[in-house]
Amino acid sequence: MRKRSVTDLDLRGKRVFIRVDFNVPLRNGKVRDDTRIRAALPTIHHALNQGATIVLASHLGRPGGRPEPVLSLSPIAACLSALLEAPVTFCEDTIGSPAHAAITHAGPGGITLLENTRFHPEEEQNDSAFAGALATLGDIYINDAFGVAHRAHASTEGIVKHMPTAAVGLLMESELVNLNQVIESPERPFVAILGGAKVSDKISVIQNFIDRVDTLIIGGAMTYTFVKTYGGIVGNSLVEDNKINVVRNIQQYANSKGVRLALPRDHVVTDNPRGSDNHEILQIGDPEIGERVGVDIGPDTITDFGEII
Ligand code: 3PG
Repeated sequence: MRKRSVTDLDLRGKRVFIRVDFNVPLRNGKVRDDTRIRAALPTIHHALNQGATIVLASHLGRPGGRPEPVLSLSPIAACLSALLEAPVTFCEDTIGSPAHAAITHAGPGGITLLENTRFHPEEEQNDSAFAGALATLGDIYINDAFGVAHRAHASTEGIVKHMPTAAVGLLMESELVNLNQVIESPERPFVAILGGAKVSDKISVIQNFIDRVDTLIIGGAMTYTFVKTYGGIVGNSLVEDNKINVVRNIQQYANSKGVRLALPRDHVVTDNPRGSDNHEILQIGDPEIGERVGVDIGPDTITDFGEII
């Protein structure tokens, strides 16, 4: 499973294009949680110490293929500059002459952060010409964006076909080592926590986990497809009615393997899932939910899951 690492390469004098995951929460134009930016620092430091010129690319949010000022990476450039204690040149486009000019302006050993890759529809389309345009900005491609590694986009997958040399960054490398360890030789008891909206997106992951774990904790909106399968009342919570049989099969498979599926016992319900204060804690299946929607686990479930973990 070992991939070529950034540490295997000679970066001296090279333009190193690093795909990072700077998809961080912003509020009023400021970074609210810089965890993901800090996680990228080891690779950036390594490349700088090797004498590379750094070009950074990331998506931020889901702007739908057009510029969306509130999803600009500009505040992230300021945050990164403070963390690195070094200037970071922010480029207001992702490709083309503005990007080349910004990299030239940053100079040898400089750091350039490109604008949100998803301001271009070609990013999510994995468009080859767009990937090729990104590739002209570097001599070496490093993928350090573990959080988006499951997406085949131009800056994560397409670009590799246009670059002579590609490798993983230190963050990606450590995530792969961790992943490999939990998949191949996990410490037991082994608990996995799975959330997300849809059972249909996760069927293969769930089955894969059932082959390995002792307990699978299920949260997120997919809870309600499970609850409905067991005959519970779910109000207007998100349910995939056509996956009820799938859930039955999952439960049978888990039983046959002696794996416990841990589901929420109580939840937060609201009539406005978009952030109203008007919410209530109910036991799962309580008909008091009426037309409301379940949006999160409740305090009893937090205790249950905490004990399992
Ligand atoms: C994430 O935050 O999960 C990653 O950055 C991927 O973002 P996405 O789900 O919008 O592709």
